[in-house]
Amino acid sequence: MVKRYAIILAAGKSTRFKSDTPKIMHRLCGKHMMLHVLDKLQDLQLEKTFLIVNQVTKELMEVVSPYEVHFIEQTKQLGTGHALLAAASQLKSLTGTLLILCADTPLIRVKTLQQILETCETQNTDQVVLTTSLNNPSGYGRILRDTNGKAIDIIEEKEISNEQATIHEINTGVICLKIPSLLKGLPHLTPSEQSGEYYLTDLFRILLDQGKKVTTLTTDYPDEALGVNNREQLSIVEMKLRNKIVQKWMLNGVTFLDPSSVYVDVSATIGSDTVIYPGVIIEGSSKIGVGCVVHGFSHLKNAILEDGVVVDHCSIIRDSSIGRQTRVGPFAHLRQNCIVGHESRIGNFVEVKQSQIGNKTKAAHLSYLGNAEIGNQVNIGAGTITCNYDGKQKNTTVIEDEVFVGSGSQLIAPVTLEKKAYIAAGSTITEDVPKQSLGIARQKQVNRPGWTNDKTKKKKK
Ligand code: UD1
Ligand code: CA
Repeated sequence: MVKRYAIILAAGKSTRFKSDTPKIMHRLCGKHMMLHVLDKLQDLQLEKTFLIVNQVTKELMEVVSPYEVHFIEQTKQLGTGHALLAAASQLKSLTGTLLILCADTPLIRVKTLQQILETCETQNTDQVVLTTSLNNPSGYGRILRDTNGKAIDIIEEKEISNEQATIHEINTGVICLKIPSLLKGLPHLTPSEQSGEYYLTDLFRILLDQGKKVTTLTTDYPDEALGVNNREQLSIVEMKLRNKIVQKWMLNGVTFLDPSSVYVDVSATIGSDTVIYPGVIIEGSSKIGVGCVVHGFSHLKNAILEDGVVVDHCSIIRDSSIGRQTRVGPFAHLRQNCIVGHESRIGNFVEVKQSQIGNKTKAAHLSYLGNAEIGNQVNIGAGTITCNYDGKQKNTTVIEDEVFVGSGSQLIAPVTLEKKAYIAAGSTITEDVPKQSLGIARQKQVNRPGWTNDKTKKKKK
C-alpha cells in the first residue's frame, strides 16, 4: 500500500484576522480551529502528520498534545509555497502521497479527503487539486481551464484579471501530491512580482510544464471550501458548524425547541429524549444524560448531568456533576468541582462552590454552600450560608446525613454538624454540633409589652 502523509499549513500571519493570537488558535464551537482539521485526518491511515507553524509555543504544544504531529517551523511567512519549501528537507527521503490542507478550512469532510487520496493513488496522478464552485468566489484562487475543459493553472485573487475574476471554480486549498513530483517542482517556485509571496498554487502549472499528470477533483459541497480569513468568515463557519452539531443531536433523539438559538460545543454530548429549551449554551466536555430537561438561558460548561436531571431557567453549571433525577435552578449557580447526588434539589438563587452534596438533599432557596461536604437527606434551609473564608484561607463545613439546618443560619467553618443534628433557624454556628443534638446559637428574644404605645405617646408630647 502507498504510504500516506499529511501537511497542515498553519504558519500564516493571520493579517486579516487582526488578532494577537494566531487564527488557528481561535476556537470554533469550543475547539481550536486547527484541531477541527486534525480530527479529519485520524481515519486516513497516515504515516505521519506535519504541522507547519510560525513558532512552536508552549500553548500550541499543549493544544496539540492529544494528537501525534511533527512540527515544522516556518519562521518567515512568505506564502504557502514557501511553507512547503520549509518542509522540503523533512520530505526528502519519503515516497508515497502527501495530502496538503490549510488549517483555516475546518469544514472539510473526511470522505472528500479519502477521495482525493484515492484519486492521486489510483489514477497515477502527480497532483490533484480539490475544487468547488462558489457563488461568491472572491478571495479564493481560481481554476483556469483550456477550451477542452482541462485545468491548466490556478490564479490567485491578488493576480487576477477582471475576466478571470468571473470564474466561479476555486481552489479549496486541499491538494494531494506524489512526494517525489512535489520535490521536483518545488525548486521552480518563484515569488510573485505582485506580492512577493511564493504561491503553492503555482506548482500546478510547474508540474504540468514538467510533463506530469495534474488534475482536479470537484466537490459538490461548497461549504467544505470555506476558509476562515477574518472574523466574519469565522462567524459564518461557526454558524454552519453549530447547525450541524445541533442537527446531529436532533437525529439522535434530542428535542430542541428552537435549535437556532442553542449553542452546543463540538465535544459535548446529549442523551436521547432530552429536551433543550431556547437560549441554552452547552460548552466544553459537557455530558448530558438521557431524559434531561435544560430550560431556557441556562449555561453548562464541562457539566455532567446524569439521566433525568432538570435544570431550570437561567442556571449556570460549570465543572460540576449532577446525579440522576436531581433538579437544579431556576437561577442556581454551581461551579468549581461540585458533585451533587441523585434526587436532590438545588433551588433558586443557590450558589454552590467546590462542594459535595449527597442524595435526596435539599437546598431549595437562597444559599451559599462553599467548600462543604454535605451528606444524604440533608435539609438546608433558606438563606443558609457556609462562612468558608476567614480572610486567609477557605475552610470546610461538614454536614452529615439527615441534618436539618434551619433557615437563615450561618455555619462558620471549619465546623461539623454530625448526623441528624438540628440547627435552629437564625443560628450562627461556630462550634461542632454532636449527632442528634439541637444546635441553637442566637440571642434570646426579649418582648417589651406596650413599648410601641409608650413610644408614640412620648412623640405626641
Ligand atoms: C489559499 C490559496 C487559495 C485558496 C485558499 C483556500 C495559496 C497561494 N492560495 O489562499 O488558492 O483558494 O487558500 O482557502 O495557496 N500559511 C502558511 N505559511 C505562509 C502563508 C500561509 O503556513 O507563509 C498557511 C495559513 O496559516 C493558512 C494556509 O496556509 O492556514 C492558507 O493561507 P492563507 O493566507 O489563508 O491563504 P488564502 O489567501 O486563503
Ligand atoms: Ca485562507
